[in-house]
Amino acid sequence: MSAIIKPNYRGAYHFSPQGNWMNDPNGLVYFEGEYHLFFQHHPGGMTMGQMHWGHAVSKDLIAWEELPVALAPDELGMIFSGSAVVDLHNTTGFFEDKPGLVAIFTHHLDRPGQPALERQSLAYSRDNGRTWIKYAGNPVLENEAAIDFRDPKVFWHKDTAQWVMIVACGQTVNLYRSLDLIHWSFASTFGAGIGSHDGVWECPDLFPLAIDGSTEAKKWVMLVSIGADPLHAEGSRTQYFTGGFDGVAFTPDEASRTVRWIDYGRDNYAGVSWANIPEADGRRLFIGWMSNWMYAQCTPSEGFRGAMTVPRELSLETRGEETLLIQQPVRELQALRVPVLSLRNAAVREINAALASLWLEAYEINATIVLGVSAGFLLRSGAECWTEAGVDAAADELYVDRCSSGDTSFHARFSGRHAVKLKGVPAKALDLQLLVDRNSVELFGNGGQAVITDLIFPGHDSGGLSACADNEDAVFLSLDIYRLHE
Ligand code: FRU
Repeated sequence: MSAIIKPNYRGAYHFSPQGNWMNDPNGLVYFEGEYHLFFQHHPGGMTMGQMHWGHAVSKDLIAWEELPVALAPDELGMIFSGSAVVDLHNTTGFFEDKPGLVAIFTHHLDRPGQPALERQSLAYSRDNGRTWIKYAGNPVLENEAAIDFRDPKVFWHKDTAQWVMIVACGQTVNLYRSLDLIHWSFASTFGAGIGSHDGVWECPDLFPLAIDGSTEAKKWVMLVSIGADPLHAEGSRTQYFTGGFDGVAFTPDEASRTVRWIDYGRDNYAGVSWANIPEADGRRLFIGWMSNWMYAQCTPSEGFRGAMTVPRELSLETRGEETLLIQQPVRELQALRVPVLSLRNAAVREINAALASLWLEAYEINATIVLGVSAGFLLRSGAECWTEAGVDAAADELYVDRCSSGDTSFHARFSGRHAVKLKGVPAKALDLQLLVDRNSVELFGNGGQAVITDLIFPGHDSGGLSACADNEDAVFLSLDIYRLHE
């Protein structure tokens, strides 16, 4: 009897839980030298179930240490998504001699014969997130009119010296204000008649970003995730709006009247940004759940299910008439690089000769390609599988095609080709950055304007890599490949 070699689908450099089910990132906050990553977690099963907040910490956004579960269900219900803040000036009264962490999350209570009840609650930690005390007065915010009322993201709004909460409410978001995180008053609502309404609105975020790195000009960016609906083949995905925010209401730019997605792949959902990043750093850091509710609960996996995207830096750039959200993998990832190949002005034939003997599972490709040439790569190729990613010059788009990527059988809509139009391409060459791991491909192109994040489930023999183009003489202006070590 021949042994079946099972592929290992735990990413070499992507966070996944040690065991069981994970979905959304929660409570992202930086505090006293640690990045905290809490996450939606069912510690007793491989699908969504009794939801807890799992917990991991990292000093560099790359190496994560998983800690015991932070928040467990209680008589008010399961612990759904939410955020965390540092209460620097003890506005809550929860802390005595030093600032601590406050988690603001949704209590989701299933009730027989009635819709579930979703209310917002607090917990606080005086020991850097290691143990949590649920606030005795929970819940702190209810809305009887709304069935879907969840995923509070809270931030301190400096200009008006108050806490602001953005929380999903049906197919809109509500904004509330508070001086102490405990008493909340309604400020405004946003979303009717604008944006995508392909599904329920979830996991919003709202934050300012500098425009083109300016020290003065900024816009506010709102992220809103849209739940999967069987009518839409894309499943769950995340849109963004740009505009202004005065502490009460969000006013969208005209450009936000067109739906804009943060990612044109299928597997970047419920992503939000870290709170409390030091001003000296100044970055807006983001991470998403690398899956899609359409098939998340049936992906091939053993022992655990779910991973996060790589952490990314968000910025705003003017491209033509528009201000666009730009995503780049965080620079900390460069520490994992082990150089494998570096070529300049190399033809596809020459590149493939150099790649023929390599076996790579977790790696990064940086390439520049002459405008007008269709070119790309066959990633994670084995005897019967490959994933194609590159630029289609005729269509003016980047794409990832996972139709032959390996196991696609677990869901009818998993297989597919995903593309994103290029906007504001520089005059001469196009840059592509690919982060490939054991079961994912993340493509960042055109300086982070075009992003595609896709899971793949290749066979165990899929360490092959080659370049492809219109013809074998097509030239890559530059090509740098790095193995990314664990
Ligand atoms: C988004 C979401 C949230 C909810 C959580 C439950 O993926 O549906 O709206 O709080 O997952 O796990």
